[in-house]
Formats: sequence, structure tokens, C-alpha cells
Amino acid sequence: MSHSYSDGQSLNQSSNPSFEQVLEARLSRRGMLKGAVALAVAGSLPLSLAGCATSGLRRDTTFGFGGISISTADAVRVPEGYAANVLYAWGDPVGHPSGSPAFRRDAGNSADEQALQAGMHHDGIHYFPLPYGSDNSVNGLLVMNHEYTDDGLLHSDGFDNWSADKVRKAQHAHGCSVIEVRASGGKWEVVRPSPFARRVTARTPMRVAGPAAGSAGMKTAADPAGALVLGTFNNCAHGYTPWGSYLTCEENWDTYFANSGTLTADHRRNGITAKGRGYRWDEFDERFDAGKHPNEPNRHGWVVEFDPYDPQSQPVKRTALGRFSHEGAWPATARDGRLVIYMGDDRVFEYIYKFVSRDVYDRKDRNANRNLLDQGILYVAKFNDDGSGEWIPLVHGQGRLTRENGFADQADVLIRTRAAADAAGATKMDRPEWIAVHPGTNEVYCTLTNNSQRGAKDRPGTDRANPRVNNVFGQIIRWREAGNDPAGMKFEWDLFAVAGDPQHADAAQRGNIKGDAYGSPDGLWFDDSGLLWIQTDVSTSTLNKGSYERLGNNMMLAADVRSGETRRFLTGPNGCEITGVVMTPDAKTMFVNIQHPGETSSERNDPKKPQAVSTWPDGPAGGRPRSATIVIRRNDGGIIGS
Ligand code: FEO
Ligand code: CA
Ligand code: CA
Repeated sequence: MSHSYSDGQSLNQSSNPSFEQVLEARLSRRGMLKGAVALAVAGSLPLSLAGCATSGLRRDTTFGFGGISISTADAVRVPEGYAANVLYAWGDPVGHPSGSPAFRRDAGNSADEQALQAGMHHDGIHYFPLPYGSDNSVNGLLVMNHEYTDDGLLHSDGFDNWSADKVRKAQHAHGCSVIEVRASGGKWEVVRPSPFARRVTARTPMRVAGPAAGSAGMKTAADPAGALVLGTFNNCAHGYTPWGSYLTCEENWDTYFANSGTLTADHRRNGITAKGRGYRWDEFDERFDAGKHPNEPNRHGWVVEFDPYDPQSQPVKRTALGRFSHEGAWPATARDGRLVIYMGDDRVFEYIYKFVSRDVYDRKDRNANRNLLDQGILYVAKFNDDGSGEWIPLVHGQGRLTRENGFADQADVLIRTRAAADAAGATKMDRPEWIAVHPGTNEVYCTLTNNSQRGAKDRPGTDRANPRVNNVFGQIIRWREAGNDPAGMKFEWDLFAVAGDPQHADAAQRGNIKGDAYGSPDGLWFDDSGLLWIQTDVSTSTLNKGSYERLGNNMMLAADVRSGETRRFLTGPNGCEITGVVMTPDAKTMFVNIQHPGETSSERNDPKKPQAVSTWPDGPAGGRPRSATIVIRRNDGGIIGS
């Protein structure tokens, strides 16, 4: 999902130097580019990786494919020698032992049937080999998020005749899928039935854990203990832990709430509006009226952990990781064995965070780590203009996070993470999306997808990490922690790539990508060889128009971070974004999610014309476009990308 929030809700504000000042200073600090075109900085000049990127890698990085052209075709395109096939589309049965209702092409499936089928709008995805601890590359669990719904496609008649049943169906189309997948002769299928198959939805009961559990802010009339929440929704990207659990991240949860009463300061800070943003759940599920249930929003915006290997396991909201528009949660191991989780808050002018666990994790007994994410410290990032950076702890009683400044206790700090980060003086970023940790160097990369409001009237100006006003193309920032330890408290950073169109009339919008061009980077993932996979989410309101008229449909590329060279690997069908990528341990199969093919610029289809933008993947006879997981293989069965 690409979010515009054009009404200016929940915007952070400050002032910063100009783009030219920024690049000038940044470049002269590195002493690399005297007099050269300023924008040539990043991709071609990796500052700290050169010469050391392959240490600890299973294999070296080399491109074995030629970059493909941009595309406006209603199809998935991959390089010569590769094939892409659909595996699991919205409405396909999950394979639950209790039943496998077939998808109805007129969207006529009931709410109960939807609870046993793939949700809509696939996003973050991870592969867990079977059994746990193996490196099985032909049988495993795929766990993925279903971020949001297009109710114009979800129901035969869209929002007409809106009802409690339709709200229930929409809630069942959110959340996560766990599917078992198996390959034979390179051909993958969903195992149906499978004892592992499950859906987690916006109605699944889940436990609250960590410092905010049971606190005043988490209590509602329906849950006076503040300990049990119904559901997770707007699950964007994801994470996983070394002990084989899945982390699903609640991003634009605020958009599901309306408020018939008075908006609190926290409601406003998080973007909740009186009328809501069109999901209309509040009309038949009163807890989504924040006027009547002002604490219900506090129970969303968290990272949720569950064990895909145990289909009975209850998901847990881990409040120690903070509450904001969680894009994803990506792990790294500190030198002393504690777990570090990197996280972005994807909203204009929000922040980058990391959590460091109090305890080291147990590498032998996965059950010993069940509650490891409940104790630790949440930090927020400050990117200084001289290329240094620091992590500021969000701990009650430290700095400005005191009772005198309005923070009651640690639960309050965590529930109001954004306010705490404001008080801490963190750096306001251009919409932090995915984060990826280089498997050989521990260097951390983060997509800053875009921010058209940077430098606008009464909005924060540029700084060196966010160097462009009206930033429509985005950038990828990276940092190296002090001592090369993910638990380090200081870091050095630079911009790996400034995205853009090299032919753009405005020089500031041309970017510095070495190789194939792109804009609005979002998904980001390192494979075991250190090749960086980049996925784009250009909003459907701007795709193939204006600044984006020469960049085609959303795409996936791969970058060699040593040279900065970037090659386009995949282009998606009309109206989609590409989000979510993972490979099997042998690197011979890649799974990618194609989200919201056929999306209109309003993000909601006219149910009378569901094929107005796309018919992917089923073709004109298919009824309506569907988000789907695809399988990518090399025709010769070789390693992807090399
Ligand atoms: Fe759901 Fe930030 O993308
Ligand atoms: Ca996005
Ligand atoms: Ca995203």
C-alpha cells in the first residue's frame, strides 16, 4: 500500500538544510566526488563495504541475468532463462483440515469461507523449512501477510448493502496465511489438507505481552484486564526469529477506526479521523468507533509473534517493540547473542527504531525463547548531518521521558512510542519501509520510499539523510553499527542509492542509480550471497504518470552492493505493487508476492468493472484480479540471480 495522507494527519514537523547543502556537505565529508554531479554519490561509491562484502557469505555475488526493460504489460515478466508461476492467490483454499472452499470468481464466497481461504493483498513472506531446524528446500511452510482489502473486489457488489457479514468477510481477508508447500521435480504446490494450514485474521484472539500488557491504556470494556485483543490487521511486512517464529507487523491500523466522539491527542498523532478512511468496520463492529472505545486503538500498531510450526499457538502482541505504523521487524544477532530487531515506522516524517533484547537467546532450545521479546530496550535513530548516528533509548525516567513531561510509566512510553521519539529528538525520515541486514557485513539497509511533503509549506525541510524536497522517488539509506555489533549505540551512515528517472527534466529527480532505474523502493531483502533485492511500490495514483511516466509498472531489481550496479529482474502486472520475497535455503526457488493487481487510483475498484485495470492472474475469464504468491525458478534449476 502506498499511503498519501494528504489531509496532513499525524505529520511531524521541524526544519532542515537544503538539498544542495546536504549533498555538498555529505560528499565533501567522504571526499569522493569533488566537482562531480552531486547525485552520483551513492550507488557507485559504497563507502565501507568495498573489499569486505563477501566475508561470511555462503557464496559470492555475481549477476547471472540481464536486466529487463520496464513494462506496462498486464503480466509478470522475468529474465530469459527464468519462469514465474502462480502458487497461492486470494481466495485459494489455505488447506485447513476442516475444509477447502473453492474460490468463487464472482467474489461470492461467504465470510466463513473466506476464513479458510487466502486473504487479500499479500505482503511480507517467509519460508520455514520442514521440519524446524532443517534446510529442506522442497517442503516447508510459507507464512505471509494479507495487508488490506479492496472491498470493490472482495464482495460481488462492493460496498452496496453493507452489512455485519461483509465486515466479517473483510476482517477474515486480513491477517496472515500459513500454508504448507511442496515441490516435486521443481514444480511447487500447496499441500491440501495440511495439519499446519491456518489463517490468522482480524478476529483471531491474541494475547498481549510485555510492559504494556494489563496497563491502564490497554483496558477496554470488553477486556478489562487489558490482556486479550481480537485480531491483527494491515499486516504489511514481517520478520522472523532465529527460533522459528514469525513476526507480523501492524502498519496502517489507524485507517480502520472512526470516531463519533472526541479525538484524543493520541488518536490525532496516529492519524485517526472522525469518519475513518473507508473500511466502514465501525458501522457493524463498535470497537472500531474510537469515540466509544478510546483505548481500542491502543491495542493495535504492534508487532505480533506466532509459531507457524504449532497451528494451535496463540499469537502474541509484543509491546516491548513499540507502537507505531510498523512496516516490518528484521532480526540481527548482537555479538553477545542478544537479539536485535530493526523496525521502520512508515509514515511521513516518522522514525527508524531498533529493539535489543535483555537476554541472549537459546540456540538449542527454541521453547526457552518464547518470551524473549518481552524484555529489552527500544531505541530510536538519530542521523547526524556529519554521517554519524546514534540510538536513543526510549526508557521511562531517562531524558525527557519523565512524569513531568507527561509520560506516566514505561507502558505509556511504549503505547505512545511516536510521542516518546518526538521528545527524544529522533530524525524525521522519508517513510521508512523495509530493512535488510547484509549477511556478510551486518551493514543495515533501509528503504525510504518517498515523501512528497518534505520541504512543503509548514512541513519539515531536508536534512542529509532525507535530502530532497518533494521527494517523489525515495532513497535507500544504510549504516554500520559501532564495532560492527548490531547492539552498538552509535553508527556511521550514508545513502546507498538515490532513486529517480535519469531522463527527468528536473535534475534533482534524476537520482544516481547505477544501472536500471526505479522509484519508491519498499521491499528489501538480502539473499545469502549478499545480493540486495529491491521491490517498488509506486502509488497507483502516480504509476506511469507525471514523474513516473517512463518507469513502467512496479518491479523488482537486484543490486550488487559492492559496485552499486542494479539490474531489473521482474516487472509486475497493471496496478500492482511488488512486495515480499524469500528463497528456499538452496536458493533455487524464489517466492514473491504480487499485491493488488488491478488497483485503481482510488485504491478501491468499481465492483461493476472489476477488470478495469487488470485481469491478472486468471485472464479475462477469471472474474477479477487477485493478489498472489508466485514461484520463480531458473529453467535449468540453478541458483536464482547468479
Ligand atoms: Fe504497507 Fe509501508 O507499506
Ligand atoms: Ca509502500
Ligand atoms: Ca511496504
